[in-house]
Amino acid sequence: MNLLDGKLVSAKIKEDIKKEAEAFTRQSGRRPHLVAILVGNDGGSETYVASKMRNCELVGFESTNIRYDVNISEEELIAKIKEINQDTSIDGLIVQLPLPKHIDPEKITEAIDYRKDVDGFHPINLGRMQRNLSCFVPATPYGIMLMLEYYNIDTAGKKAVVVGRSNIVGSPMSILLARNSNPGNCTVTLTHSRTANLKDEVLAGDIVVAAIGRKHFVTADMVKEGAVVIDVGINREESSETKSGFKLYGDVDFEEVSKKASWITPVPGGVGLMTIVGLLKNTLEAAKGTVYSK
Ligand code: GUN
Repeated sequence: MNLLDGKLVSAKIKEDIKKEAEAFTRQSGRRPHLVAILVGNDGGSETYVASKMRNCELVGFESTNIRYDVNISEEELIAKIKEINQDTSIDGLIVQLPLPKHIDPEKITEAIDYRKDVDGFHPINLGRMQRNLSCFVPATPYGIMLMLEYYNIDTAGKKAVVVGRSNIVGSPMSILLARNSNPGNCTVTLTHSRTANLKDEVLAGDIVVAAIGRKHFVTADMVKEGAVVIDVGINREESSETKSGFKLYGDVDFEEVSKKASWITPVPGGVGLMTIVGLLKNTLEAAKGTVYSK
């Protein structure tokens, strides 16, 4: 078993991003700027947004966190998004998900100018990604592709099985792995809660991406000998063992599955760190106008 080491890869790529951000700042007289909107007090979301903001500062970006009470109306939130869309000092805008039930995430996603949509969730970015056109790719799938690229994992002609069809990970991941690109060119199976014989589907995978949000869902009996296993799960459980009071578990039973896998990502220290890299790269590209010219 070889480790797909998110700590190592993210640190290397962040060094490059930092250098590019410095060059951008020298030339333009301003730093790349990401705004993150956080609604309510969801513990996981607070941690993720704090980490995104901290990492922006680490690579020399400006970061702004706008917080709203859980009761903010959809109209008020959309009005703020429209204001940010017009603000030329802001390059990227993300609205942390999930949102409270009274706010429609589709409406929010579509309110964001697709040229600032560094989460890559807007239908324009999704459609352009599917067509292999210049676009913002969602951060987690983007980070996974960067990791596969870094380790030179051979994906062409392989059977990839994605477990989970979320808009944020599973669905875009299936598109990217199937695209005519490197990494890519996989034969992709996108599995979900209604998939029949899930175990057999996963067993067929040369590459398995687990993104279902259930602790240790993928067990050793579901994984082919020699498979490449990507664990997207960040399942938080309260724990007295850690300083934060929480312990993270992946969607994959690492201990057992690592005995069969040729390559595997740990949790923590795997995909989570690469997600941040994907977001930082998108923000830098938004500032530079390389995805959509300014
Ligand atoms: N919630 C879980 N993952 C993400 C993400 O990548 N972006 C946003 N905005 N919300 C999320």
